[in-house]
Amino acid sequence: MSLNRNNPKNTTAWKSLENHYNEINTSHLRELFQTDPKRGPDLTLSYKDFLVDFSKNRITDKTLSLLLDLAKEVSLKDAIEKVFTGDIINETEGRAVLHTALRGKEGDSVMVDGENIMPEIFAVKNKIRDFSNSVISAKKRGYSGKPFTDIVNIGIGGSDLGPLMVTEALKFYKNQLQIHFVSNVDGDHVNEVIKDLNPETTLFVIVSKTFTTQETLSNATTIRKWFLQSAKESDIAKHFAAVSTNTEKISEFGIQEENVFPMWDWVGGRFSLWSAVGLSIALAIGYDNFEELLGGANEMDTHFRTEDFETNIPVILALLSIWYNNFFEAETEAIIPYSQYLNRFSAYLQQGIMESNGKSAGRDGEIVDYETGTIIWGEPGTNAQHAFFQLIHQGTKIIPADFIGFKKSLHGDSDHHDKLMANFFAQTEALLNGKNAEEVKVELLEKGMQEKEIKELLPFKVFQGNKPTNTILIEKLTPRTLGMLIAMYEHKIFVQGVIWNIYSFDQWGVELGKQLASTILQEIKTNSIGEHDSSTTNLLRVYKS
Ligand code: F6P
Repeated sequence: MSLNRNNPKNTTAWKSLENHYNEINTSHLRELFQTDPKRGPDLTLSYKDFLVDFSKNRITDKTLSLLLDLAKEVSLKDAIEKVFTGDIINETEGRAVLHTALRGKEGDSVMVDGENIMPEIFAVKNKIRDFSNSVISAKKRGYSGKPFTDIVNIGIGGSDLGPLMVTEALKFYKNQLQIHFVSNVDGDHVNEVIKDLNPETTLFVIVSKTFTTQETLSNATTIRKWFLQSAKESDIAKHFAAVSTNTEKISEFGIQEENVFPMWDWVGGRFSLWSAVGLSIALAIGYDNFEELLGGANEMDTHFRTEDFETNIPVILALLSIWYNNFFEAETEAIIPYSQYLNRFSAYLQQGIMESNGKSAGRDGEIVDYETGTIIWGEPGTNAQHAFFQLIHQGTKIIPADFIGFKKSLHGDSDHHDKLMANFFAQTEALLNGKNAEEVKVELLEKGMQEKEIKELLPFKVFQGNKPTNTILIEKLTPRTLGMLIAMYEHKIFVQGVIWNIYSFDQWGVELGKQLASTILQEIKTNSIGEHDSSTTNLLRVYKS
C-alpha cells in the first residue's frame, strides 16, 4: 500500500500552526527561558549515548503539540511502518525502500515480492566480511605477491559520499590500508590519485548501483588502462572488485564472480553505505567496526519505529525543521559538528537531504504550494566560527543549526577537548541570548569608552539572538554512535518527505543535466555544435576554438 497523498496545508494542524506562528514569531528565546527555568532539561531527549537538547528553538508547548498533531494528521505512524515492512513507497520507481533491512538482525524477516530478503543480505555481509578480512590480513595479495597497501573507491554520489564520509569520520579506527576516493569525471582528480600509487599493491573497488554512471565508468576505464601498463589482463581479477545491481555489466569489465558484491534496487544510492557499497568502509576500519556501524543504525531504527512521537528524536527534529522551513520561511539549515573527523558530514547530508526532499511535485501529482527541501550546508566547528558564523549571529536570515558534539575526545587530550566544547556550548548560548543594546552599553562603559563613541558603535555590537539551534551531544565518536547519527538524519528526511507529501526516494531531478551532457559530449567529439540557446552555443564555440 502506498503513502497517502494529502496536501499538508489542508490539515487542521497546519492552519493552527499558521495562526500560532503569528502569535509567537516575535517572542524571544530569552523570555522563554526566563519564564521557565526548567526549559532546558524539559526539552531534552535522550536515547542510549545520545542527548538531544531542542530547548533553544522558537517553540512553546503549544507549538510542539500542534506539530505533533500535524504528524498524526498525515498518518506518520502508518508511513513509518510502511518503510520497515517493505511497502512500495518509492512509487515513481516502483520500489520498496529498505536500507533499514540492511542493518537488521539475524532472524528478522522482511518480505519483498513474497520473499524474505534477510538471508540474501546476510550472505552478502558474510562475503564482505571474508573479503575484507583476507585483504587486511594479507591472505589476499596483489599480482606480484605483495600485500595490498592501498584501496581506491571509484564511485560518485551515494557510491562515494557515504564511504568517504564514514572512513574520514572513523579514521581513528583505521587499519594499515590507505584509502583513496575517485569520483569526479575531471581527469585531474583520477590522475592526482593514481600518480602516487603502486599498481602491485593497490586494490580498486568500483561502486555503482547502476554501473552506467559516466563518471564512474570513465574513471574505472582510465584506471584499468593505467593498471595494464604494468600488469597483465589476467591480473585484473586480483585487483578489481565491484559493487552493483548490474552484475552483467560488471563481468564485461573483466571482474571475477568472487569479487562481485551485489546490491538491490530497494536500496537508494544515498542510503546505501550499509550495503556492499560500504565495502571500502569494511576494508578501511575492519569488518567488526562495520558491523558496529550497522548495529548503531539498527538501534536508531528501533527508536524511530517504536518510540512515541513526543520523545522520538528523528520525529522531533523533522517537525522543528518543518516549523522553520514552512512557517518562518527559513531556507537553509546548518550542520556544525564539533569534530574534525566529521568534516565531510554536511557534504554527505547534502546529498541525503537535498536529493531526497528537493522536489516540487506532490505525491498527488500536483505542484506543491508550499516550500519543501531545505538547503543544507556546514563545516566543523571551531573552523566554521572563523568563517561564516558572523552571518548566523548578525545577518538578516534565520538559519536553524544543529550542533553536534562529543563528551569525550578520541585521543584523550582533555585540554583541547575542553576548549573545543567550551566553544560548542558558548555558540548556542550566544545564538540564543544575543547581546542587547543595554548590555553592549554597560560593557563599553566598563572599558572606559565615551558616550558619544558608544552611541556610534552600538548598533554594530548588538546581537539580536533568538537564533534557533539543536544540541546533539553524544558520548563518544565510535562506529556505533556514527551509525546512530546517520540513521537519525535518514529518518528525519523521511518524516519531512511524508509531511510535505513528496516522494523522498527518487531523484528524477538529476536526469536532465545528464541527458544534455551526453548530447553536448557527442557534439564536442564530432565538432558539430547543434541547436542550443545563444549562450550555450557561444560557450561551446569558445571551448572548441
Ligand atoms: O546523480 C544521482 C545519482 O543517481 C545518485 O542518486 C547516485 O548516488 C549516484 O548518481 C551514483 O549512481 P550509481 O551508484 O548508479 O553510479
